[in-house]
Amino acid sequence: MSADVVPLQMRRQQPSLAPMLALTAAGMNSVNAVILDRMQSEIPLIPALAGHLISGGGKRMRPMLMVAAAQLCGYHGSRHHTLAAAVEFLHTATLLHDDVVDGSDMRRGKAAANIVFGNPATVLVGDFLFTKAFELMVEDGSLKILKVFSKASSIIAEGEVDQLTAQRRVETSEEHYLQIIGSKTAALFAAATRISAILAEKSEAEELALDAFGRNLGIAFQLVDDAIDYDSESSESGKDKGDDFREGKMTLPVILAYARGDAQERKFWEDAIAGFRTEDEDLAHAVELINRHGCVEATRERARHYAQRAIDAIAGFPAGEARNAMAEAAAFAVARRY
Ligand code: IPE
Ligand code: IPE
Ligand code: MG
Ligand code: MG
Repeated sequence: MSADVVPLQMRRQQPSLAPMLALTAAGMNSVNAVILDRMQSEIPLIPALAGHLISGGGKRMRPMLMVAAAQLCGYHGSRHHTLAAAVEFLHTATLLHDDVVDGSDMRRGKAAANIVFGNPATVLVGDFLFTKAFELMVEDGSLKILKVFSKASSIIAEGEVDQLTAQRRVETSEEHYLQIIGSKTAALFAAATRISAILAEKSEAEELALDAFGRNLGIAFQLVDDAIDYDSESSESGKDKGDDFREGKMTLPVILAYARGDAQERKFWEDAIAGFRTEDEDLAHAVELINRHGCVEATRERARHYAQRAIDAIAGFPAGEARNAMAEAAAFAVARRY
C-alpha cells in the first residue's frame, strides 16, 4: 500500500484536507449559508431533491479552494461567498446530470438522486441548480468573472459530450482522455481559483498562475477519481465501485492495462469495453489485470506530476498558511481514497 501514498516531496504525513478546512472554516460557513438559502424554492421537489444530495456532504473542494485562493491573494471582501456557492451549485448540477448519464446508483454514501427521485426530476433539478449558479454570478455583477465562469460551464459540457463519444472505444488514447478530464473536471477547479485572483484585482500573471493551479489540481483529482473507481470500496468512496467499467469508459487505469496487456488480456478489454463483460466476476478480473500491471499506482504517479505542477504554479505567492493549505490540498488530491 505504501507505494500508493508516497507523498509529494517533503511531506511526511498522509496529506489531508484538514489545513484547508481550518483555513476556510469561517468563509465556508458563509458559503454554506448561501447554498442552503439559495437552493430553496416554492416547488417542494426542488429543495427535497437538491437537499438529498447536498445534505450528503461532499468535500466542498471547489468552494474551499476559492476561499483559500482569495486569502492567498489578500482579498478582504465577501463577494467570494456568493461566487463560491455558485461554483458548488454548478458542480452539484453536473453531479446530478452525471449520475443520470452514467446510470450510477450511489453518490456521497447514499442512494443517488436518480434512484430516489427518478431521471426526469434529477435532470430538471440539475437544470435548476445550474441556472441558479448563473443567477448568483450575475448578482455579483462582474462581467469578467461571468465570462470565466460561463466559459468553464460550456467547456465542462463539451467534456461530458466528448466523454460520451469516447465511451466503449477501446482505442481511446491517453491524450484524448487527458483532454476529456481537462474539460469535464479541471475547467471548474481552474475557474474557481482564477476568480479569486480577479476579485483581488491581481495581475494577469497571477490570475493565470491561479488558473494553472486549479487546472493541474483538477487533472490530478480526476486521474485519482478514475483510479479509485477500481481501487476503493464503496464504503470509502461513497460511490459504486466499477461504474466506469460497466459503462465502458476508457479511463487511464484501463488505457494503461490495455497497453501493457498481452493478446489475451487485450481481447478481454475489447470485449469488456464494448459491453459484453459487465458481470461482477468480469470487474474482479479487470481489477486483477489493472493490479497485475501496476496501473493504479501508475495513474497516481501521473496525478502526482500534475499536483506538483499545481504547487509550482503558486510558488510566486507569499508563503504562509493559505499557500500551505492549497499545496496540501493538491497532495490530498493524489493520496485521497474518497
Ligand atoms: C466528483 O467530485 C466528480 C468528479 C469530478 C470526480 P467530488 O469528488 O469533488 O465530489 P463531492 O462533491 O466531494 O461529492
Ligand atoms: C466526473 O466524472 C463528472 C463531472 C465532472 C461532472 P465521473 O463520472 O468520474 O464522476 P463520478 O465518479 O461519477 O463522481
Ligand atoms: Mg459519474
Ligand atoms: Mg468517477
